Amino acid sequence: MGRSLTALLVATCLFYVAVASSASINLKALKISGKILVAQLMQLASYSDDPSPSVTRILFTDNDLKGRRYIKHLMEDAGLSIYEDPIGNIYGRYQGTDPKAPSVGTGSHTDAIPLAGAYDGTVGVIGGIAALKALKLIGFKPKRTLEVVMFTSEEPTRFGLSCSGSRAMAGMLDASHLASLRDVNGSDFMTAAKKAGYGSSDYEHLLSLTRRRSSDLGYFVELHIEQGPLLGDGGLDIGIVTAIAAPAALRITFNGDGGHAGALLMPRRNDASLAAAELALFVEKAATSSGAGDTVATTGLWEVKPNAVNSVPREARLEIDVRDIDGPRRDSVLNAIKQEANKIAQQRRVQLAIDIINQDPPATCGRDVIKAVEWSAAQLGYTSRHMVSRAYHDSLFMAQIAPTGMIFIPCRNGWSHRPDEYASPADVEKGVKVLALTMAELAGDQDDDEKKVEL
Ligand code: GLV
Ligand code: MN
Ligand code: MN
Repeated sequence: MGRSLTALLVATCLFYVAVASSASINLKALKISGKILVAQLMQLASYSDDPSPSVTRILFTDNDLKGRRYIKHLMEDAGLSIYEDPIGNIYGRYQGTDPKAPSVGTGSHTDAIPLAGAYDGTVGVIGGIAALKALKLIGFKPKRTLEVVMFTSEEPTRFGLSCSGSRAMAGMLDASHLASLRDVNGSDFMTAAKKAGYGSSDYEHLLSLTRRRSSDLGYFVELHIEQGPLLGDGGLDIGIVTAIAAPAALRITFNGDGGHAGALLMPRRNDASLAAAELALFVEKAATSSGAGDTVATTGLWEVKPNAVNSVPREARLEIDVRDIDGPRRDSVLNAIKQEANKIAQQRRVQLAIDIINQDPPATCGRDVIKAVEWSAAQLGYTSRHMVSRAYHDSLFMAQIAPTGMIFIPCRNGWSHRPDEYASPADVEKGVKVLALTMAELAGDQDDDEKKVEL
């Protein structure tokens, strides 16, 4: 065989492999507009407890319910069938031609921590709906059902627990844990859920109706802003997430006797807030001396009682967030913090209570999903790089039941959880296009033999 014939055969085979791993999508016909997506993001951002540009949307509040109504309106408009489970996850489904095949899911959250921005989570929900709508409009017939989910309460703001909806779906939330949660007004989850039109007869029942299994969810892929600076710094379009760091959170409460700030002399004091201050400094040291730049620890929540200038603090409550891409290394930092808290409590003669709010494993993204995202970004001519997600996401829990991946888009200066969080319409559009193509690729189309990508 001549050299040129061999080359031709190799080229033909490569072309066949490329086409055979693609879905029948006319990329040019995909109707995905950054301008429309951003208009929808801004409409959602208007449902906020704080004035624009801040966004504050807390689970099951009036603004959360308005946001949910808007999401359901977009799902309806996209021709998706809507299902809501009792924990408040909202699904939009696009039925596949093989109803027995496990589905392909996407989605994210729309709740926003106090004084946050308009893009965290919302891009993955609004973008997910837009991706499914665009696939539907070009007549793509997926083999696997496609679904987009708005997860309940990814942020821990109201009940102190992150990712409630996805934890429950993955079977990683105990009924007794959910039942023990209280918000600042002492309300329990079920009461708040029922007021919002969700909930069920009891927690076991609620969780059993929310649970998903590997047998009915084949893949999951979430679109999200990067919340870090790497894509922006590198001038890149798309981040392909390969792993999600392991988050953990501790609640530490020190209790002393308190007393009058003038009358109580220094030797007789056991000031709870000073114990907390010492521990917070140790938290920083524990992270910086872990031996890896991937370890981060933050004492982000402080509550001091009675919080009066002329009173020795009687109680100090801290919430400490510790994360690492290496689970055991993260756990050794957690253990060191607990030991130090005990030591400080003894030295300062204060009572100590330690509660573990959550201690979750890291997630490794699924190979097939990573490959599908790589392939989709390349088909669209977008630049990309692999990266780790240091923030947590609902994907951390979806990875427990299905091969999971994430698509990141750049956000200005890597800013997030602040009112000036921003992603450009062009970047949002690119992310949604990659998502649409990835989902189509993972779902397969009704007739694999006719697969073709028109560029
Ligand atoms: C999610 O918002 C996180 O804190 O990583
Ligand atoms: Mn967030
Ligand atoms: Mn988020």
